[in-house]
Amino acid sequence: MNIIKIAPSILSADFSCLGNEIKRVEAAGADLLHIDVMDGHFVPNITIGPQVVSDIRKITRLPLDVHLMIKNPGKFIDIFADAGSDMLTVHIETVSSSQLSAISCQLKKRGVKFGISLNPGTPLAKIIKILPKVDFVLIMSVNPGFGGQEFIPSALKKIKQLRAIFEKDISVDGGINALNAKKILEAGANILAAGSYIFKAPDAKVAIERIRNG
Ligand code: DX5
Ligand code: ZN
Repeated sequence: MNIIKIAPSILSADFSCLGNEIKRVEAAGADLLHIDVMDGHFVPNITIGPQVVSDIRKITRLPLDVHLMIKNPGKFIDIFADAGSDMLTVHIETVSSSQLSAISCQLKKRGVKFGISLNPGTPLAKIIKILPKVDFVLIMSVNPGFGGQEFIPSALKKIKQLRAIFEKDISVDGGINALNAKKILEAGANILAAGSYIFKAPDAKVAIERIRNG
């Protein structure tokens, strides 16, 4: 049985007081902190670099779940691991299979969990061969780039199909709220990355409990 974990995505936090925002979700019961790294190439947005990750590392005890939405992620694996990432996710759309093997070895040596992610339009078949090498899969339920988008329902089928063949953690990212969390958990996911639903809620603790309890 995989433990349910809630990972607030700081993309929807108020960056003018990021430290307080992180403390707020930590106190509200977050299990992980989801950090979206975007390069303006793989996705049409630019967000956070390694310096921010390393500064966040100093102010929270939450494990840092760093989601790399960048081209050529191999170049940045050591940099983000040095910054204090506990989990690093790369997109299947951005790497060759030999690059994946290299990243997997690098992260194993460093004790950082390795995740593979796939966009809504990418079939599950693309990640089947790499599954033995990863610690978790992150299924995108929106097209990556922005917070506050609507959950794409076809993600549910992907989660179910993956759960039938994969025992480790399945994370889902994008458009999660109290109305769809139950279905996502029932489909077999156990890590929920949610940005706007948690950070824009009047009470982050209530929001986290609502999605945790489906
Ligand atoms: C989207 C990011 C998500 C985003 C989710 O590209 O990877 O982590 O912050 O935000 P919500 O929960 O608002 O869809
Ligand atoms: Zn993300």
